[in-house]
Amino acid sequence: MGGDPVEVSSPAGGVGILGLGAVLPEHAVSHDELAQRLDTSDEWIRTRTGIAERRYAAAEVATSDLAVAAARAALADAGLTAGQLDWVICATTSPDNPFPATASRVQAALGARHAAAFDLMACCSGWLHGVALLQGLIRAGSCHHGLIVGAEVLSRIINWQDRSTAVLVGDGAGAAVLGPVAEGAGILSVLAGSDGDGYEHIIMPAGGSRMPATAETAQAGLNAFHMNGRDVFKWAVRQVPEAAERALELAGLRVGDIDLFVPHQANLRIIDAAVERLGIPAGRTWVNIQRYGNISAACIPVGLCEARAEGRLKAGDRLLTVAFGGGLTWAAAVMHWI
Ligand code: UT7
Repeated sequence: MGGDPVEVSSPAGGVGILGLGAVLPEHAVSHDELAQRLDTSDEWIRTRTGIAERRYAAAEVATSDLAVAAARAALADAGLTAGQLDWVICATTSPDNPFPATASRVQAALGARHAAAFDLMACCSGWLHGVALLQGLIRAGSCHHGLIVGAEVLSRIINWQDRSTAVLVGDGAGAAVLGPVAEGAGILSVLAGSDGDGYEHIIMPAGGSRMPATAETAQAGLNAFHMNGRDVFKWAVRQVPEAAERALELAGLRVGDIDLFVPHQANLRIIDAAVERLGIPAGRTWVNIQRYGNISAACIPVGLCEARAEGRLKAGDRLLTVAFGGGLTWAAAVMHWI
């Protein structure tokens, strides 16, 4: 299955999350609202996915708007200014424009004048890929403080001709500022992997060089989100525990050492299967899919921000987090929360 993941372990710690921020649009979209456009039901969506509602951004709001709000909150939380950022990375599957990078808009809006900016495309795993990259840059001395935002307005790329994917996604953004921390704190391990053999499983078929967007592709729903749900489901149920176990091994920890598990929120059944397979004790898993659905690259930073606000993630806790998504990609990390 795929190539070997890039693995970075940081036995002495040294890089951690200094600040977090999250923003969710106000408009909550119910299953009844979706049922006006699709042949679906509250019962099907709840039992098959665990989702109860999701948020959609207002028509005038784009991905960078959510990203900037989350980034400002993360900077304030870290007690840093935008001018102190060296890198601004935006992980998104729903950029403002195909190019240039949404991160450039974020950089300009923040006034992060000294920062290099680029987008990172690893779909739902993008935010954790960004964490892995920033850790490497900081340890290599190429970055002091870096921003990684996961931001999505997936409501703009829904395929309304496909009820099995249309009900899953929502909008939101979460951001973190990374920087140096004391030895033994922060990121204890992080890994990222890809299996390009699964490229077609989660895809927007048109709108790129392989199939340029035309009126016909739009009509056929090809400029939108497509997923082979059953195959992704089977893959994720296997991949999430594997990635989690490897991250724990790299960190020199066991499942019982983990205070909080924050998995990617794609389907409650995938989360439950992973929790059972890993043997994570009851009450140690963060779940917010019922409120937001799948917000792709924003899932994990939004989850971290909320878990901390609710007192579920505290200084000294050991955190395990795993993401997976289009590519197919996956990533996992263990952190000693500061
Ligand atoms: O974040 C990126 C990673 N993404 C994921 O991890 C998603 C992984 N996949 C999944 O979560 C699930 O495969 C889905 C939620 C997408 C679909 O659930 P499923 O249990 O795999 O359903 P299915 O696609 O096998 O469809 C079962 C039935 C079908 O009807 P028949 O053929 O049995 O009559 C579908 O037409 O459910 C029907 N169906 C629906 N019915 C009502 C599919 N979507 C809906 C719907 N409302 N929204």
